[in-house]
Amino acid sequence: MEEILQVENISKTFTLSKKQMKLEKTNSKKKVAVDHLSFSAYEGEIFGLLGPNGAGKTTTLRMIATLIKPDEGEILVDGSSSTKEPVEVRKKIGFLTSELKLEDFFTPNYLFDYFATLHGVDAATCKARKEELFARFGISEFAEVKVANLSTGMKQKVSLVVSIAHNPRFIIFDEPTNGLDVITAKVVTDFLKDLKKEGKSIILSTHIFELVEKLCDRVGIIINGKMVTCGDLDAVCEGKTLEDRFFEIYEETEGSLA
Ligand SMILES: Nc1ncnc2c1ncn2[C@@H]1O[C@H](COP(=O)(O)OP(=O)(O)OP(=O)(O)O)[C@@H](O)[C@H]1O
Ligand SMILES: [Mg+2]
Repeated sequence: MEEILQVENISKTFTLSKKQMKLEKTNSKKKVAVDHLSFSAYEGEIFGLLGPNGAGKTTTLRMIATLIKPDEGEILVDGSSSTKEPVEVRKKIGFLTSELKLEDFFTPNYLFDYFATLHGVDAATCKARKEELFARFGISEFAEVKVANLSTGMKQKVSLVVSIAHNPRFIIFDEPTNGLDVITAKVVTDFLKDLKKEGKSIILSTHIFELVEKLCDRVGIIINGKMVTCGDLDAVCEGKTLEDRFFEIYEETEGSLA
């Protein structure tokens, strides 16, 4: 199997503001979000990054997607370095962030065209792709409605299609079903399965065990910024449910749940 992603010993420490220190309930100005983390993802697989709140999932994905730089370590996406060749990497990936930041003033139709054009997609391809994706996610009905007037689920659907407007080979989904009702969540998970069938490589972060069990070929468990285990889903689970196995690992590494 060909490696599409190599994450090699990356670390990221943030300097906290006074407000953040209060929120984090810490006296330390430094927060180690990602701590010497390594893993690989392979072509054509769905890799699940599983971990509790604050484990470092989003920070890891943002470093892969070139939005922030690791303090140390290296990331290669299909052979291109996220730190040294960010433009190359951005062409190859689609990134669905967990934080919705669609501008209220724009419509789904406009946003799709805008991002496709940014990625250099020609007009005819953009039109065909938009029709296909808007139909699939039921966006056609609200394609001309401003983001301000859309529900959370509608916005998430729009974010998802916009993130893959340029038909990337490697797609990063940060908590793709967050805030979605069961029906919309199913549309999204079915779509991920179809993307895999098309040969796309996917990495998704979640804290939902079921999502990993349903979708992922391999899983990495991240706790306190460290990759505590990583491998084929069956190998990681050791014959138990992922949830039971996760809590075993959690207690082994953290001592207790408290
Ligand atoms: N820009 C930032 N400045 C300061 N601290 C940050 C920043 N981004 C993340 N952190 C901190 O780093 C840690 C890891 O955060 P991260 O968002 O990567 O976790 P996560 O695994 O995605 O959690 P969640 O499941 O809640 O989304 C947290 O303690 C978080 O507060
Ligand atoms: Mg997150």
